[in-house]
Amino acid sequence: MTRPFYITTPIYYVNDVPHLGHAYATMAADTFARFHRLIGDDTRFLTGTDEHGQKVEEAAKKRGLTPKQLVDDVAPRFAAMWESLGISNDDFVRTTETRHKDVVRALWKRIAERNRDDLYLATYQGWYCVGCEAFYTESQLTKQGDTWICPIHTTPVSWVDKERSWFFRLSAYKTRLIDHIEAHPDFIQPDAYRKEVLSFLRGEVRDLSVSRTSFDWGIDVPEGDPEGKHHVIYVWMDALTNYLSALGMGTPLYDRFWGQAVHLIGKDILRFHAVYWPCFLMAAELPLPKKILCTGWWTIGGRKISKSIPATRVDPLVLAADLNADRALGIDALRYFLLRETPLGNDGDLIYESLIERHNADLANDLGNLVNRSLTMITKFAGQAPPVHSDALADVANQVIAEAKANWEAFQPSRALEATWRLIREGNRFVDSSQPWALAKAGKNDELARALGTLQTALWTIRNLIAAVMPTTAIKIGELLGVKAEPAWPTAWGADLPAFHPQPPTPLFPRIDDKRTAELLAKWLPAETAAAPVAEKKEAALITFEDFSKAELRVAQVITAAPVPKAKKLLQLTVDVGEGRHRTVVAGIAEAYQPEQLVGRKVLLVANLAPATIRGVQSEGMILAAGDDSILGLAAVDSLGPDVPVGTRVR
Ligand code: MSP
Repeated sequence: MTRPFYITTPIYYVNDVPHLGHAYATMAADTFARFHRLIGDDTRFLTGTDEHGQKVEEAAKKRGLTPKQLVDDVAPRFAAMWESLGISNDDFVRTTETRHKDVVRALWKRIAERNRDDLYLATYQGWYCVGCEAFYTESQLTKQGDTWICPIHTTPVSWVDKERSWFFRLSAYKTRLIDHIEAHPDFIQPDAYRKEVLSFLRGEVRDLSVSRTSFDWGIDVPEGDPEGKHHVIYVWMDALTNYLSALGMGTPLYDRFWGQAVHLIGKDILRFHAVYWPCFLMAAELPLPKKILCTGWWTIGGRKISKSIPATRVDPLVLAADLNADRALGIDALRYFLLRETPLGNDGDLIYESLIERHNADLANDLGNLVNRSLTMITKFAGQAPPVHSDALADVANQVIAEAKANWEAFQPSRALEATWRLIREGNRFVDSSQPWALAKAGKNDELARALGTLQTALWTIRNLIAAVMPTTAIKIGELLGVKAEPAWPTAWGADLPAFHPQPPTPLFPRIDDKRTAELLAKWLPAETAAAPVAEKKEAALITFEDFSKAELRVAQVITAAPVPKAKKLLQLTVDVGEGRHRTVVAGIAEAYQPEQLVGRKVLLVANLAPATIRGVQSEGMILAAGDDSILGLAAVDSLGPDVPVGTRVR
């Protein structure tokens, strides 16, 4: 019997076009779906769009469109984005579809039939954030002057004055939900989010207003209002039901998958999924999802992704095409970075330098290099598939297969990938230690065949291990090995080997060199109009030695230097701060130095300065220089004295 696995993404609001934050959630869910297919589970993967509500109605009005025109314009852009990104969803649900609306109304009726008291009419008055489509109490908001501000959108909330609405008796389910969460420790993952939900539930839980009369763009409440008002169902109750409506109720898909659902979501929508949704389902007497899997948020160079900051509006497809001439491989590189860089529940910051560094280290140097050298040698020295392998990599491979599987099953992609890369690095070490070129030269043909066969088996294993996160790369490695078989999760080193027909390789992930890095950084970090803050001039006060020693000054060496576009005075430097660690620093020295003069030069760095974002670039330190705007000299290590190593502290 194959096990059922059902994974969902949040359905995206159509008031916005897709950006990197959305792509992250969808790519992560796609990777889990692909992994479960690899291990043979009966897998279903759902995504879609959230098309009702006040937010969408207002967005349409602003653009002079009807809500229907807006949603019909934007929803296909999400579908097209996922297709271009190679996302393998089995279904795409839109909340304006009849199949969805029918199930939302059926769910309402079911609650009303089974637990009549849970839906009641009352008057709502309070704060509403249209951005969140959520009601807030004052204790959940912040106040600026006389204005209450939404903590998530940092925009003013609006007052809903005595609106007659249907309420859902959330309070009645509080204890049952706490019991459920305590009895199922994996219900909300990672644990920090589980604690957050429990602490919310242990406070005062109020009933929830679940209908609105002040606008129309939504699904009608199935039962009338005795006062004759027209109610539409609260958009979150509507939206959450997509997970069910896409299967249909009482259908074969429902029987296979409902109750198995893993809802992957962002931390901003935790309460809707971990509190409201399970309570609606309890009231409808339907099984709960299996898991709420919560991710953190990505910022770009330290900044929140926002419509008003163009530099954060990264189009994942453009980024992918910039990373690799073969865009599909660039997409794989991006997926790898996003899932490897930050554990799933944590917030992540996309720093472009780190993206390039990881690309060069993990993909060009480790994976790409192993594929390239192995196949070059196999085709050159053996000319055909080597028939035997040694067990030199068997132990590490078997450990990695088990560890990566356990981590994928536990929804910990960064750990799964860390384990996988251990095998890739061992593969490269094996090339260095077995030296097939020397064996060929010495005519040790048996040993040579075994070494090359070991590399061939390693590539095959790695290809299957990475297929969930890097599907195109897996296809390419399969082609280079001349194998047609679909990827499947490896059971053990050397098991189930297919017939190989190795081909001469072309590099999968060409290294991004310094010149290209500078070009890409200049492209990805558009200049902004905001002026840099001007420091006030103050008389210098005396400081103690202790004050001075708070500054951590170190010798650093410039590795790359590039202008910051449209900022005449600024250069963006990558500096080596010792032990191979690199940092990005923005320095106001562009009028005194050409970038190329600086590469290789030793400079003095204030290493413990709090990071700051300057013209869209996160600067992690400051270079010491003499003078002000016009007279500038870099403080450097005396070239006449002994060679001071990079990283040395300056006192
Ligand atoms: N429509 C609701 C979800 C309804 S689910 C029944 C919604 N839509 S959204 O388009 O605003 O956000 C969709 C998802 O994208 C959320 O999980 C949100 O956390 C995620 N992200 C939006 N920006 C993000 C980042 N910057 N980083 C990571 N994820 C982010 O909420």
